[in-house]
Amino acid sequence: MKSLRARRFGWIMGLSLVAVLLLAACAPDPTALIISPQLGEQMAALEAGNEVVVAAPTEAPKLADLAPEAVTAGLPDDVAAALASADPANGEQLALARGCVGCHALDPAVTMTGPTWHNVGDTAVSRVPGESPALYFYHSITNPNLFVVPNYPANIMPANYSEQLSTQELADLIDYLLQQNGAGG
Ligand code: HEC
Repeated sequence: MKSLRARRFGWIMGLSLVAVLLLAACAPDPTALIISPQLGEQMAALEAGNEVVVAAPTEAPKLADLAPEAVTAGLPDDVAAALASADPANGEQLALARGCVGCHALDPAVTMTGPTWHNVGDTAVSRVPGESPALYFYHSITNPNLFVVPNYPANIMPANYSEQLSTQELADLIDYLLQQNGAGG
């Protein structure tokens, strides 16, 4: 029969082995990138005696930078036609009458259930890559869960506006939202 000491020794050895294995499993992956991915390029440029160019952060494009076709690209034909003769003042009235302003505020300092409409025309330019701002608004209103704004909950914005609003009313709302941009027009 093994002595108590020998058994304890076996236990300690066993536990040490487990600890070593655990440590090995947790060791950082030497191939993982922990520094800027551009660092290699920048070091090579430095060694070659070249100037190190660090790309400036690019500013998000604004609505005013877009050509008119780029503002409305991809809209269904009937909505595009209605938008061409849309009335943004009626859109503003609809936002009130349909309760949009109960969840969206123009004042960026006011926190509401939905994201701010302050400069939302500019925001819409780059919300969904490849989607024009007017198409983005069209989708946001008629199918809110198609794209859910980061840090906001899904299924809060009513999903049945497409049944309640006529095509012209949708276009008026879209036109009103497009007017909310830094250029003020
Ligand atoms: C009950 C609250 C509520 C109401 C009412 C509401 N919304 Fe929203 N809306 C939200 C929430 C929450 C989001 C963000 C989550 C998401 O993307 O669905 C949102 C997102 C949006 C966006 C995208 C904004 C962005 O920053 O990308 C637009 C545009 C929008 N709503 C328009 C409208 C319009 C127009 C109406 C009225 C016809 C309306 N909403 C009514 C809650 C609401």
